[in-house]
Amino acid sequence: MSLAERSLTLTPMPRTVVQVGVAESLPDHLRDLGHQRAFLVADPGVVAAGLVAPVLSALHEAGIEHATFDGVDPNPTDANVDAGLAALRGFGPAPVVLIGGGSAMDLGKYLALAAPNSGGGTDFAFAPTLGADDRIDFASLAPRSFVVEAPLPTIAIPTTAGTASETNGGGLITETATQRKLTFNHDGVLPQVVLLDPTLTVGLPPGATAACGMDALTHAIEALSSTNNNPLSDGLALQAIRMVCTYLPIAVEEPANIEARTQMLVAAHLAGRAFSQGPLLGLVHATGHPISAILHQPHGQTLATMLPHVMRFNAEVVAERYGWAAQAMGVGSDAAAAIAGVKALSARVGTDRTLRDLGGDVGLIASLVDQALSDLIILTTPRMPSRAEVTELYEVALGGG
Ligand SMILES: [Fe+2]
Repeated sequence: MSLAERSLTLTPMPRTVVQVGVAESLPDHLRDLGHQRAFLVADPGVVAAGLVAPVLSALHEAGIEHATFDGVDPNPTDANVDAGLAALRGFGPAPVVLIGGGSAMDLGKYLALAAPNSGGGTDFAFAPTLGADDRIDFASLAPRSFVVEAPLPTIAIPTTAGTASETNGGGLITETATQRKLTFNHDGVLPQVVLLDPTLTVGLPPGATAACGMDALTHAIEALSSTNNNPLSDGLALQAIRMVCTYLPIAVEEPANIEARTQMLVAAHLAGRAFSQGPLLGLVHATGHPISAILHQPHGQTLATMLPHVMRFNAEVVAERYGWAAQAMGVGSDAAAAIAGVKALSARVGTDRTLRDLGGDVGLIASLVDQALSDLIILTTPRMPSRAEVTELYEVALGGG
């Protein structure tokens, strides 16, 4: 469809400040928004690493009443939600400050959405089932609880460069009973302010840095090839690809390199703005989510495992766009070069692991396929796969051995 035949809505994005040490200016931003209290949702590893202490000191010195909740699992669950809601409802209404990677940011946004409303667990998330045609049954989409009262405002301080959860009002909560990652989304929990402080990311180990970076790369590539792509998101995605390809290897090999850390934090944010600006994502995320839900693998690693396979599957319908990605990577100008470039980057940063390396086996594939086909993020993938095609993708991703 030509651009003239389309209708585009370019959505506002949060005020974002990029600066070494900017996390400690949180009290100023809370006051600018008219608040004297704050409820922090923080990753426990980030708290243990001492990254939250300077922020707490700044809040204390500014006389801002605050509480911290850090009961966040690597893939946040309904149990985390219920514990967090008890703490937040006990503390009372306040902006929710998200400090951590995607897990803490997703959980914090969900708590901000749920706290003023009736319900807990995964009540506000979508849990669609499959129809007889293996497509999502939209009649099954309605969540158990609805957002009636306005969510609490949020402010985001990411401590990883990857998920870009700070660029949207959505996220994932794992339903423990079904081991399924369920989507939620509400514009009211889009962070009002984002503070990108590279000093918070220098302590991230190389493996996690690499996985998060591959998440950012996947966001950019999936936004670029989404059925909902648009010129603004194309520009954001291509710049993010350039920055990730240049700076991810440096951030992995020289963890204390503050310039590489800053570039990656901004690259991940731009990739997030790209997919959050309408395109959303696609089959890499739809096939990656079940691997992390069932095998408890890091989100970015599951994407790195699936990305080249899904790109090969998509290539025939998005060849030109993958060619743009190859140019942004500086590796050529066609889809084959883009796939080779992704594989080379993944090998260089150490995320070139098979599904078998992640604990998968043939017996698991049917469950993975069911979850992938019913993941809402599949809806914008450029080439809609059949059950047999998703099965084959997982079989190839298993690798030899
Ligand atoms: Fe992602």
